[in-house]
Amino acid sequence: MTHKKLIHIPWTLERDAPPFEGNDIKSPEEMFRYTFKHNTKKGDKIFDPFTGMGTSLFVAEEMERIPFGMEYEPQKYEWVAGQLENWTHMVCDDAAKLDKYKLPKMDLIITCPPYMERHTKWNPLCGGNPKYAGYDKYLKRMGFIFGKVTNLMKKNTPLIIQLDNIQSGKNFTPLIHDITSVLNKSFIQTGETIIQWDTPKPDYPFTTLLTFRKR
Ligand SMILES: C[S@@+](CC[C@H](N)C(=O)[O-])C[C@H]1O[C@@H](n2cnc3c(N)ncnc32)[C@H](O)[C@@H]1O
Repeated sequence: MTHKKLIHIPWTLERDAPPFEGNDIKSPEEMFRYTFKHNTKKGDKIFDPFTGMGTSLFVAEEMERIPFGMEYEPQKYEWVAGQLENWTHMVCDDAAKLDKYKLPKMDLIITCPPYMERHTKWNPLCGGNPKYAGYDKYLKRMGFIFGKVTNLMKKNTPLIIQLDNIQSGKNFTPLIHDITSVLNKSFIQTGETIIQWDTPKPDYPFTTLLTFRKR
């Protein structure tokens, strides 16, 4: 049976996103502190395939874990890598190509992937490349990328993904269900943590962390 929990974490961004990006897609540092405290120990290797503004990696270093990450936007990559002690562990490339790099087996994989609404065409995983336009291709690509991620997992390495369903006007995107479905081929879901933000961001009272292990 999937283990389900409700926890409370403050919505506080301790480190602002860089000026060329908004804070919109950043996750709070405390969310990573909580997951690292409960799933890793000092010296463990942590990988984030969609690093963004590097929150997971900065917290990993702060807690004496060893961060690894991929981010395909060069500007974000440089901003993050330039502030990391372990900057050589950052790769600037599409996470779908992670096999090209000599990354070690990890003790924890944690990430918040780019979100897509199902009525839109722009696939954020592929920089809007029209060859991969549409929600179905986005989901298929998500399954492909996380399939590659299994190569970096030991038998007991948890994969933790932050996800939200999206309501935009009349359009609802059941992203949590849809991404869980495409991961089903390579992973078994083992947990679900609902985070209720204390001091919530307007219109964003909750988020979800899903935990998987590889099949
Ligand atoms: C939701 S953001 C991650 C935010 C991060 N948790 C933080 O706190 O800053 C997702 C990131 O994935 C990156 N991205 C999108 N597609 C990618 C791909 N195919 N490979 C690697 N990175 C990708 C985006 O540029 C974006 O920075």
